[in-house]
Amino acid sequence: MNAFLELTQLGKSYDTEQGRAVIVRDFNLRVSEGEFVCIIGHSGCGKSTVLSIAMGLNDATEGGVIVGGKEVVGPGLDRGVVFQSPALLPWLTARENVQLAVEQVNDRSRRRERKELADKSLTLVGLSDIADCYPDELSAGMRQRVGIARAFALEPKVLLLDEPFSLLDVITRMELQDELMRLWDVERKTVLMVTHDVDEALLLADRIVLMTNGPAATVGEIVAVPFARPRDRLQIVDDPLYERIRSQLITFLKERATPRQISLTEKRKEEAQTSITAEELLVIERYTGFNRFRSRYRQQQPMAEPVEIGTQGATSSCEATGVSRVTLR
Ligand SMILES: Nc1ncnc2c1ncn2[C@@H]1O[C@H](COP(=O)(O)OP(=O)(O)OP(=O)(O)O)[C@@H](O)[C@H]1O
Ligand SMILES: [Mg+2]
Repeated sequence: MNAFLELTQLGKSYDTEQGRAVIVRDFNLRVSEGEFVCIIGHSGCGKSTVLSIAMGLNDATEGGVIVGGKEVVGPGLDRGVVFQSPALLPWLTARENVQLAVEQVNDRSRRRERKELADKSLTLVGLSDIADCYPDELSAGMRQRVGIARAFALEPKVLLLDEPFSLLDVITRMELQDELMRLWDVERKTVLMVTHDVDEALLLADRIVLMTNGPAATVGEIVAVPFARPRDRLQIVDDPLYERIRSQLITFLKERATPRQISLTEKRKEEAQTSITAEELLVIERYTGFNRFRSRYRQQQPMAEPVEIGTQGATSSCEATGVSRVTLR
């Protein structure tokens, strides 16, 4: 199969007070059309840096990225993105958040068509009955599902996922991994996903890219995952190959262990909540068209008395209030 996503001689450096910091160097990867590739590496080595360059949210210092024969020069709707936190606009319902993305793909389509496509995507991830809920009325897993629905609603050729399940509890994470596997089996998108979880990579990926530690991190090893699809998590762990490949991955990670560096993603883990950060707003603007449709989807004026709605016990029949309850930081 031809490479659909090509990262060639990718490098990223920053000028810091201590001098030039080389984060990533000579990173080469070719991902075939319909292939699922995971990147694993120690915290702070540069995984998100590589992914954000492919997303067009960060510029490479050297080299470049090609998606479907076209060079990446900025964010584009040919790529669906999902992060640790779903970056939903808190004053829009789940459906409206997805609709916003749909509108960017085709702003000439009728409102009803956009709503239907948003509902179809929400149904795909099992959320048809919470379409009218606001993000803070949903559990963390449901919010992340809305983020995935939004990425699929763009009907992108490539999915770029940066630790999409790492903030979720184990059960919800397993559910969403299964959901993603099911969706990928149906749509066979080209996927590049960053994860810290070796078992997640073994379950989902066709190949696993092991990154060396920074500074100047690069591709260390690439490990093929040969399990037949569709995969079942209980079946693959019984395969003798599972332990062998798992040991290979863990040995690589252990041998490359160095003192941890503080990464941007790490800081974000401490900030997981329903309000959105300026960084997330940037992603929303670039990837959902909020900028273009700002007037239509602007935040409503806050009311004098904010309405508190807890995230615990979110049900599938919430009442959408339409009241603004958030402030942008
Ligand atoms: N603007 C910047 N200036 C200098 N260094 C930076 C800048 N942005 C990121 N870095 C550094 O780049 C390195 C890689 O960060 P990145 O977020 O890509 O790591 P990561 O592998 O995704 O980590 P994690 O697994 O914790 O998410 C880190 O050491 C980080 O401190
Ligand atoms: Mg990261």
